[in-house]
Amino acid sequence: MKVLFTVMSASGNTRKVCDLFAARLRERGAECETVRIREDMAAPDVRSADVLVVGYPVHGFNAPQNVVDLAKDLPECENKGYYIIKTSGEPLHLNDASSRILDRILKKKGYVKKGEFHYVMPYNMIFRHSDDMAALMWQAAKNTAPSDADAIFEGKERQLKAGLFAKLTRFVVAVEHGAMPYLGRLFKVDADKCVSCGRCEKLCPMLNIEMKDGLPVFGKDCIGCTACSFNCPADAISIGVLNGWKVNGAYKFAEPREGLTKKDVCAYWRGAYVRYFREHGIELH
Ligand SMILES: Cc1cc2nc3c(=O)[nH]c(=O)nc-3n(C[C@H](O)[C@H](O)[C@H](O)COP(=O)(O)O)c2cc1C
Repeated sequence: MKVLFTVMSASGNTRKVCDLFAARLRERGAECETVRIREDMAAPDVRSADVLVVGYPVHGFNAPQNVVDLAKDLPECENKGYYIIKTSGEPLHLNDASSRILDRILKKKGYVKKGEFHYVMPYNMIFRHSDDMAALMWQAAKNTAPSDADAIFEGKERQLKAGLFAKLTRFVVAVEHGAMPYLGRLFKVDADKCVSCGRCEKLCPMLNIEMKDGLPVFGKDCIGCTACSFNCPADAISIGVLNGWKVNGAYKFAEPREGLTKKDVCAYWRGAYVRYFREHGIELH
C-alpha cells in the first residue's frame, strides 16, 4: 500500500501529527511519501498512490488557501480515496466544517473521501499555549494517531459530520482568505533585531518573502500562516494588524508533568480541552 501525504504546516504541528500517522503506517508495511505543500512543489504523483492524505492547519475555520489551490491543481482521479488530517488550536466543533471547499473540489475530480481526523495542537496564532498544554496535546496525539492510522491502513471510513453552526461560521470567516494578501503587506521586519538568517524566506510556503540586502521583503501572496514570524529566531517580524495575536518560537512538546489537573488546562474553553484530552486517553482530575 502506498500512502501519499501532502502536508501544509507553518509551525510544524500538522507535520508532526502526519509523521505519527506515517510511522504507524510504515510499521504496518505501507510505503509513505510526504510532500510539503509549497508554491514551487512538483506536482504530487497522486495516481501512483493507493491513498491520498491531505494534512493542513485550520485557518479561520477553513483549510488554508494554498491547500485549496493544491486541490484545484490535482489531476482527476476516479475513485481515489483520501483522508484529511487537520490540526487546530482549539478543540471546538466549529472547526468541523473546515474541509468543505476542499471536499467539493476533490469530489468533482472523482476523489472519494474516506475520513477526516482532527487533532488539537498548540496555537501558532492568537496566544501562546503553556508548555503543559503543549505536552498534553502532543501526548493526546501520540495516544490516538496509531489507531487512526490503522483505520487508514484498513480503508475504514472515519467521517466527521459538521453541524449547521460550524458550516455557517466557516462560510462567514472564509473572508479571511481574501483579506490575507492585503493584511500580509503590513508584515514588517525590525532591522535592528533581524539576524539575516533567511529562515523566513526559506519557510514561506507561498515564496512570498525575498531577502534583499540581508532583510526580508514581503510580497503580495501572504496567506497568514505565520511560518515567518513563528519561526523567526530573533522575533524580528511583526504581523501588522494581527500582531497582538503573534506567537513566536517553537513549543517544547515534552512529556506531560506528573500530577497535571484540570486547573493546568487553559481557562479559555477549558471544558472542551478536558473533553478532548479524555477522548484521547488522558483523564485529568
Ligand atoms: C491564520 C491562522 C488562522 C487560524 N485559525 C484557527 C481557527 O479558526 N481555529 C483554530 O482552532 N485554530 C486556528 N489557528 C491555529 C492553527 O490551526 C494551529 O495552531 C495549527 O496547529 C497550526 O498548525 P501548523 O503548525 O501545522 O501550521 C489559526 C492559525 C493561523 C496562523
